[in-house]
Amino acid sequence: MDVETVHIDLGERSYHIVIAEGLLTQSSIWSELPKSATALIVTNDVVAPLYLFSLKQVLSAQYAQVHTVVLPDGEAHKDWQTLNLIFDALLTHGCDRKTVMFALGGGVVGDMTGFAAASYMRGVPFVQVPTTLLSQVDSSVGGKTAINHPMGKNMIGAFYQPQLVVCDLTTLDTLPARELSAGLAEVIKYGPIADMQFLAWLEDNMDALLARDRKALSHAVKRSVEIKAWVVGQDEKESGLRAILNFGHTFGHAMEAGMGYGNWLHGEGVAAGMVMAAELSCRLGMVDQAFVQRLRRLIERAGLPVRGAVIDAKDNAGRYLELMRVDKKSEAGEIRFVLIDGPGKAVMRSAPDALVREVIDSCCA
Ligand code: NAD
Ligand code: GLY
Repeated sequence: MDVETVHIDLGERSYHIVIAEGLLTQSSIWSELPKSATALIVTNDVVAPLYLFSLKQVLSAQYAQVHTVVLPDGEAHKDWQTLNLIFDALLTHGCDRKTVMFALGGGVVGDMTGFAAASYMRGVPFVQVPTTLLSQVDSSVGGKTAINHPMGKNMIGAFYQPQLVVCDLTTLDTLPARELSAGLAEVIKYGPIADMQFLAWLEDNMDALLARDRKALSHAVKRSVEIKAWVVGQDEKESGLRAILNFGHTFGHAMEAGMGYGNWLHGEGVAAGMVMAAELSCRLGMVDQAFVQRLRRLIERAGLPVRGAVIDAKDNAGRYLELMRVDKKSEAGEIRFVLIDGPGKAVMRSAPDALVREVIDSCCA
């Protein structure tokens, strides 16, 4: 299989995303990284037994010292306490400003490593080595880094671009089926917001993706990051356009926070959230019900939830609204939704609370 390369054009912060099988053991991919005596690999206790040895070995050809830090796994650990373990490791090993950090894992490891790299000594270079589908198609690209706060998802972070993103498709072999589906939510997202041809391709190839066909996965990752690179290249720090990448996320983040981080996977929240956002778009006259049903069917085929979680037995819609007001897209307490304004085109809009309540009531289990 050929190595696919997508370029992300951000002036002096530009970089490549490389996509292929077996990259963790291919030394040529790693040879153009910034020179330094020291590297620090950040990973977690699920990914370490699977891939840490390979990455450490391939990096040993480049760096005299390759240190590692293994974090506890899971979204519930995307917090200050766990972030501090990375700083402890950097300081304990005497890492300097040239130390190159490597994020080996899914979006949680990637977001935390990126934030640590942005702030250690006011910024050290880092490389994303995403090992989940979600992190390959979305979180490793574009430079958003963060940790959660109990009051809101990804509330503390920085924009900080990696030097390189290495998507080794072979790592997806060990991904649990539920996590593969969660990644497919972020893949599906790119269709309604930007490319209906890609949505049609996903309809034709969903079975191959679920069967982890490498050729299908390679195309899905490549097309997803092409769309993301196109968006981020125009609006790196989300002053406008980039917000469309958050389709389904306003409702989804409320579910993640409302259920307690780690109970609903990020991609699961996004999946049900996309159905809710599509339904809201429909009730505002922007798409028809046939579009909502088409999206719902694809999400369901990907093994994802199409109904939202009940996060408060007494006042479910009220709790959603409360959590959604904390969303980073809110302005002066007004919730701003990413809605579909005709298939393939996303816009940001507010909506009357009463209508949002109706959508939540009709879409939650
Ligand atoms: P994750 O990092 O929790 O990974 C999911 C699970 O799979 C974890 O248990 C992980 O240890 C395990 N795992 C990882 N790779 C594996 C492999 N190859 N084989 C077996 N198990 C493996 O979750 P995720 O879905 O990758 O990422 C979700 C996170 O990404 C959320 O915190 C979300 O907020 C963030 N995110 C960030 C951005 C961004 O732009 N920065 C975009 C989307 C999502
Ligand atoms: N995942 C949304 C973004 O990167 O902007």
